Amino acid sequence: MYWLDRKNKQIAEMFSNISPTYDFLNHFLSFNIDKIWRKRSVSLLEGSTFLDVATGTGDVLLEVDRRFNSPRLVGVDLSLNMLKIAKRKVKNAQFVCAPAERLPFEDGVFDSIVISFGLRNVVDKVSALFEFKRVLKSGGKLVVLEFNRPVNRFFGRLYEFYSFTFMPFVGKLISKDKAAYTYLPKSIRRFPDVEFIKSMMESVGFVDVYYQPLTFGVSFIHCGVKPKKKVFYG
Ligand SMILES: C[S@@+](CC[C@H](N)C(=O)[O-])C[C@H]1O[C@@H](n2cnc3c(N)ncnc32)[C@H](O)[C@@H]1O
Repeated sequence: MYWLDRKNKQIAEMFSNISPTYDFLNHFLSFNIDKIWRKRSVSLLEGSTFLDVATGTGDVLLEVDRRFNSPRLVGVDLSLNMLKIAKRKVKNAQFVCAPAERLPFEDGVFDSIVISFGLRNVVDKVSALFEFKRVLKSGGKLVVLEFNRPVNRFFGRLYEFYSFTFMPFVGKLISKDKAAYTYLPKSIRRFPDVEFIKSMMESVGFVDVYYQPLTFGVSFIHCGVKPKKKVFYG
């Protein structure tokens, strides 16, 4: 059992409330492009033991399960209701209700960690990144998939209208929770830009850090590697 601060409790509650319609709205509002983004992120993972942080309803883990013959697949999330759905979808995985900022795993146990559309919601991003590095094996890989702001001005305007007007309207209609779908574009606006995320990953000690845009920069994939331990001979 974990002690969650007020902000994390609110986030867990919000995602629990929208969990029944989460998958449908995700695919509907993104015209199914989210599936391509998740597949692309999973294709960058390496090794055989995987942790999906902020796993939600488990779509990323499902893709990991399809692609890799993994002896250890773990999904972590704050929201029990999201985890219940994930559990029904991915039979092979183990699910744990815990915050990204305090992962209940020993040091150096995973080959790769993925966090998809989760980092934006994590209250203490630096602590979470330190935790990711701690539980990764040396040489292990971190893949972060996250929304950001499109660079193209015209597309950016269109996207603003879509996310601040259309999405909350449809989101409320279907999930009956307007606040959650108003929170989404606001959280994207507040989320640091891609260079800042890169420097955050580097500052906690990840190396070979890079990012790549997806669909005009609506989303980005960030990758980093936990440095290999240096072995000294003689
Ligand atoms: C937008 S959903 C993403 C779910 C899934 N990864 C996907 O690709 O659809 C964000 C998820 O992050 C979880 N979350 C938010 N803050 C978290 C934290 N600090 N630790 C663990 N999970 C968190 C929420 O409960 C929610 O299920």
